[in-house]
Amino acid sequence: MTTDKNRVLIFDTTLRDGEQSPGATMSHDEKLEIAGLLDEMGVDIIEAGFPIASEGDFAAVSEIARQTRNATICGLARANLKDIDRCWEAVRHAKSPRIHTFIGTSPMHRAIPNLTMDEMAERIHETVTHARNLCDNVQWSPMDATRTEWDYLKRVVEIAIKAGATTINIPDTVGYTAPVESADLIRRLIAEVPGADDVVFATHCHNDLGMATANALAAVAGGARQIECTINGLGERAGNTALEEVVMALKVRHDIMPYTTGIDTTKIMHISRRVSTVSGFVVQPNKAIVGKNAFAHESGIHQDGMLKSKDTFEIMRPEDVGLSGTSLPLGKHSGRAALRAKLKDLGFDMVDNQLNDLFVRFKALADRKKEVFDDDLIALVTDAAAAGSKDHLELRFLRVICGTEAPQSADITLRIGDRDRQATAQGDGPVDAAFNAVKALYPNDAVLQLYQVHAVTEGMDAQATVTVRIEEGGRIATGQAADTDTIVASVKAYVNALNRLIVRREKLGSDAKEVSYKDVG
Ligand code: KIV
Ligand code: ZN
Repeated sequence: MTTDKNRVLIFDTTLRDGEQSPGATMSHDEKLEIAGLLDEMGVDIIEAGFPIASEGDFAAVSEIARQTRNATICGLARANLKDIDRCWEAVRHAKSPRIHTFIGTSPMHRAIPNLTMDEMAERIHETVTHARNLCDNVQWSPMDATRTEWDYLKRVVEIAIKAGATTINIPDTVGYTAPVESADLIRRLIAEVPGADDVVFATHCHNDLGMATANALAAVAGGARQIECTINGLGERAGNTALEEVVMALKVRHDIMPYTTGIDTTKIMHISRRVSTVSGFVVQPNKAIVGKNAFAHESGIHQDGMLKSKDTFEIMRPEDVGLSGTSLPLGKHSGRAALRAKLKDLGFDMVDNQLNDLFVRFKALADRKKEVFDDDLIALVTDAAAAGSKDHLELRFLRVICGTEAPQSADITLRIGDRDRQATAQGDGPVDAAFNAVKALYPNDAVLQLYQVHAVTEGMDAQATVTVRIEEGGRIATGQAADTDTIVASVKAYVNALNRLIVRREKLGSDAKEVSYKDVG
């Protein structure tokens, strides 16, 4: 593939080892989609599945083999001829196929097929030879290598190389090794096994002690030139080395780990999100590189530093992994500088005493809410601006006719400015009829984004709290109201949202839409 001695191949096993995570089963189409994304991002080898495991796996591996343009397509097979034949049947359609065959070589794993050391050695010779007769590209793995006796590991690796394996993968199947040992194991195998220089050594680490990524990188320092990994670290138990972690570590710390990969890192975020969605495995917020908080700074000191210079608290650019930028979520730890910057983004330039006043109310809100969103901030600003001034719109009267017979209609009186106006409108249900009547009196282009009803007390006379969110030309306004009559609460919430929108138009100035007041009454 390359003659660069520092080029590390990325072998992605999201579709095989990753899919083995309990509950992470993906559909045929989802596997094809993920394989396409892996290929696009520059993965060298895609382990597409375990063809003998099921008809579905066989079909997915075959189709991925047919469709993939660049990457080598690999299938997994146990150490028997039937598995290997089935694997070859699936991967042979690929431009560049690979058979990956394995057997557990540690004392615990040798006990299962009940083979002596010699019998297992013979099995390895036979199966790798068979795979190599079918395919030029054969990977062999001694499963649980890190708990296999050193002399025996050396012996079986030599047998596999002699039988024609082109890649020797050294799995830390149970996540037992540690970085120093991981590097040493590969280094010693390369130094001591005859023929080692003619093959690629790979590392495959599980994360049971949280060391998978560190162990994989240490193995590279020891001479491994293929890293096996999965997107989001998906995989059996605690998962595998995460692709995004090793690739970004090699990029950011190239000064001490001078190895390169062919991965386009700007594709990382997208594929991470797709894998999370299709596998159903939510990425923990504090996960390195791809977690929601990986590029978010909340505390005042950090936000202040970030606003002055990004390298104060970021060692890589969010754009490098495909994000549009850093996020400074506002919460109770945020300071004035971040609040001022956020308000500026939202179009509010505050003088110091305005900001001080708002900061006090912002802190009070942040104490009650985990995260303060843009909409909350806009409401804080516009409510402050509106305080003291009368609402432009006010509900004075409402009567609704509804029931099983359509059409439903609403009679409404609104005070608009200083005059009462009245309208009647029909709609698809009482809420729609009432909102249409409001619109007839106060025409606007605001689009309803959210309509939510909560019962705040129990029983037949429960108070309903209604939340209405509307959007007009990129401006969002939320209104809320409570009443024992859900329709009344709905109209009040809608009118409340419109009032906020009106204040916002005034506050944000020129591009505010002209509104004509229709006089019906
Ligand atoms: O963890 C492991 O040992 C494996 C092998 C099949 C390579 O996944
Ligand atoms: Zn594994």
